[in-house]
Amino acid sequence: MQNSDYHIPVMLEEALHGLSIRPDGTYVDVTFGGGGHSRAILERLDSEGRLLAFDQDTDAIANTLEDSRFTLINENFRYLRSFLRLQGVRKVDGILADLGVSSHQFDVAERGFSTRLDGELDLRMDRRNEVSGREVVNSLSEDDLARLLKLYGELPNSRQMAKAIVKARGEKAIVTTSDLKEAVSRHLPRGMENKYLAMLFQALRIEVNGELEALKEMLQQACEVLVPGGRLVVISYHSLEDRLVKNFMRGGNFEGEVEKDFYGNVLSPMRMVSHGAVQASEEEVLRNNRARSARLRVAEKVMVK
Ligand SMILES: C[S@@+](CC[C@H](N)C(=O)[O-])C[C@H]1O[C@@H](n2cnc3c(N)ncnc32)[C@H](O)[C@@H]1O
Repeated sequence: MQNSDYHIPVMLEEALHGLSIRPDGTYVDVTFGGGGHSRAILERLDSEGRLLAFDQDTDAIANTLEDSRFTLINENFRYLRSFLRLQGVRKVDGILADLGVSSHQFDVAERGFSTRLDGELDLRMDRRNEVSGREVVNSLSEDDLARLLKLYGELPNSRQMAKAIVKARGEKAIVTTSDLKEAVSRHLPRGMENKYLAMLFQALRIEVNGELEALKEMLQQACEVLVPGGRLVVISYHSLEDRLVKNFMRGGNFEGEVEKDFYGNVLSPMRMVSHGAVQASEEEVLRNNRARSARLRVAEKVMVK
């Protein structure tokens, strides 16, 4: 498989610029995927440089890079610090996170991520985990489902959708993406069917993979392992992620509080480098539609914790 079939890297130049790479530095790509960003980082490192990458999906291992400066870790990035330690790495010069799922994960029907394809409602990025989309839709209470669809999918009719799912599964378990689409079909507003389905699948995916908790844990550990002046570059694809990233980069917490000293200086372990989120150019969006919703933010570590 060509790597561009697996995934086309989004905002590659902008990410490299944000990392401000030192050729002899140690870098981490916490979302390896098809390895597009990793390959470009390696090209900018000299023989002293080192790149470690994480991906929780075993499919990504096939894309590994044959280079003695490179290490691929098939684990969740929420264990960033521990797995870096296992590799003898305590401090790094830069970290890149290109969040969400790869095109490959979307394009394989049986992974269950695509609203267009019929396949088992799996939705796990890491298939070693026990809970898949099937368990979530067939076992949560109507209240919990409604809460999840509202919180993670921002669905205006989350209650109706949850009710429809509970009714459908009372007749027959929801096993495939088509079963789920059929269950909610009457609650998809005309002309907005795809949008609502995307929001529904997004909500379930976030829950199945514990995406927001993993992101928070990774950001906190990223801040701990970065050297002062080290860069953190994060590309997000929906507002829930982007809000956490923005708050953390600004104030070092997820609530959006910015602590200041007596003189009004911001007290935060991170300093925003990019002002506002960087978006993909029109030309890139034309070439790669996945870049449409991407928001890239860059921060720098300002002090040792
Ligand atoms: C958008 S893709 C990254 C694509 C990559 N930048 C490239 O150029 O090919 C996101 C990848 O991160 C992985 N991923 C997402 N969340 C993760 C997590 N918590 N831990 C480890 N890997 C994760 C997914 O399995 C997926 O392969």
